[in-house]
Amino acid sequence: MSSQKKSQQSAGTVEENALRLEKEKAEQIIDALNTDLADAYVLYHQLHKHHWNVEGAEFRDIHVFLQQVTRT
Ligand SMILES: [Fe+2]
Repeated sequence: MSSQKKSQQSAGTVEENALRLEKEKAEQIIDALNTDLADAYVLYHQLHKHHWNVEGAEFRDIHVFLQQVTRT
C-alpha cells in the first residue's frame, strides 16, 4: 500500500498549507514567487537568444559560456 498522499487542487486557489500561513500571506508569497519565476524565464530566454545570435571574434567563447549558464 502506498503511503503517498494525493495532493491536487485547482489552479489559482490557495488552500490550507503545511506552513500554516494565513491565506492572504500565502497569496502574497505566491504572487512574489510567480513574478520571480516569470523573471527567471525571461532571463533564461534572453541568454539563450544571445547564445544563438552572438557574432564576432569572440563568438566561440561567448557562445559556449552562454550555453553553460543556460544549462545549469
Ligand atoms: Fe549552441
